[in-house]
Amino acid sequence: MFSARVPARWRPNRVARALGRIRARADAVIDLTESNPTRVGLWYPPGILDALADESGLAYDPQPRGLAVAREAVARHLGRQGVRVDPSRVVLAAGTSEAYSRLFTLLCDPGDEVLVPRPGYPLLDHLTRLDGITPRPYPLAYHGTWEIDGDALERRVTPRTRALVVVNPNNPTGSYLSAADRALVRAVCRRHGLALIADEVFLRYALDGEAPARPATRLAPARGRSVVGRMDGVLTFGLGGLSKEVGLPQLKLAWIVVDGPLRAAARALRALEFVSDAYLSVAAPVQLAAGRLLEDGDTVARSIAARVRRNRDALRGRVAEHPAHTLLRLDGGWYAVVQVPATQPEEALVLDLIEHDRVVVHPGYLYDFPREAFVVLSLLPAPRPFEDGVARLLTRAAGAAA
Ligand SMILES: Cc1ncc(COP(=O)(O)O)c(C=O)c1O
Repeated sequence: MFSARVPARWRPNRVARALGRIRARADAVIDLTESNPTRVGLWYPPGILDALADESGLAYDPQPRGLAVAREAVARHLGRQGVRVDPSRVVLAAGTSEAYSRLFTLLCDPGDEVLVPRPGYPLLDHLTRLDGITPRPYPLAYHGTWEIDGDALERRVTPRTRALVVVNPNNPTGSYLSAADRALVRAVCRRHGLALIADEVFLRYALDGEAPARPATRLAPARGRSVVGRMDGVLTFGLGGLSKEVGLPQLKLAWIVVDGPLRAAARALRALEFVSDAYLSVAAPVQLAAGRLLEDGDTVARSIAARVRRNRDALRGRVAEHPAHTLLRLDGGWYAVVQVPATQPEEALVLDLIEHDRVVVHPGYLYDFPREAFVVLSLLPAPRPFEDGVARLLTRAAGAAA
C-alpha cells in the first residue's frame, strides 16, 4: 500500500533497543550524541523570543520566497560575517531539511542522482530517498586532514547526476573544504553541468581562529552582480539556518542563497518560488522576528562556540592519555571523531557502553565510515557529564583492546 520511499518495517536497531531498555529502568544516561542546543544547559538571553509576538504577525501576507523583511535580515546577518548577499537571491524554508527537499524538487526528476560526501550527515540518505532520488556517496579520505578523493568523485558522476552536495564544515568530520577541494568541486560541477549545494549550517563554528575563506560556496551576488558564479558558470545554492547559526532549531527558519550565472540564477529563483508557493511553510512570526533573532542570537552562538571548544580541549587531553585512541583532526562544527582500537565491532563497543557505562555515542558506521572502528561524539553536552562520559568511553574502549 505504501511507497518504497518509506521503510517497509519499523523494527528499532540493536542500539536503539539497548537504549530503550536502560531508559525504561530510569537509569541516568550520559548522552554524548546530544546535539540539540536547547537541551544542554546553554544560556539564552531572556526575551530572545519576544520579537515573535510582534502584532504585525496577525496579518497574513504569503510570499513564496519569504517576506522581504526576513530576507533582508538574512542578507544583513551574512553581511556582518563578511559575505555580501543580495536579499533578492535569498529564499526561505522551514528548516534546512526542507531547503534540501525544495532544491531536490527543483533540480531532479525521480531516479536522478546527487553526489553526497562520505563519511557524512546520515539524514542526507533519507532526504534524497524521500524525494525519490538516489544519493551517490563520494569519499573523503583522511591523511591527517580530510580531503575529497577527486578521482573517485569524478567516477561517481553518471548521466543521471544533477547536483553535488558539499557540507562545509562536514558533519561529522569537522573538515572545511580546502581551497583545492573548493576548486575541485567547482571544476567537476562545471564539467558535468551539475548544481552545487553547499550546506554551510556550521560554517561559523570554526574551532581555531576564523572560519576559512568561504567565498567559493557562500558568496552570493551583491546588487545582482555575481562574482563567483559568473566567473565559472556554476549554479550554487548555499544553505544556512537559525538551527545552528543561533542555536534555535525549534523556530524552523532556514535560507537558501542562490548564486551563479545571472540568467541561470534568475531562472532558479523563479522555479524555487513556484515550488515554495505550493507549501508556504515558513510561519510569519518567525520571519518578522528574524532580524532580532539573528542579532540577539549572536550571544548564543558565542556560548555554543565556547562550549564546543572547551569540550574539544577536554577530549583532546583525555585522548592523549590513551595512546591506543586517536582524536581525528577537526576544524569546525559540533562533532568529534575518535578512532578506537578495532579489536571488536563498533556496535559491540557502543552496546557495552550503553549497558555497562550508561554512555551513548554514535558508531562510525552510522556516518558511513569506510572501515571500523570510530565513534562520533557531540561536543555540545554540559562539561561535567561530557568529561565523565568521555572517561568512561575511553576506559571501556581501552579495556576491550587490552
Ligand atoms: C550538516 C547538517 N545540515 C543540516 C542540518 C539540519 O538543520 P535544520 O535543523 O535547519 O533542519 C543538520 C542538523 O544536524 C546538519 O548536521
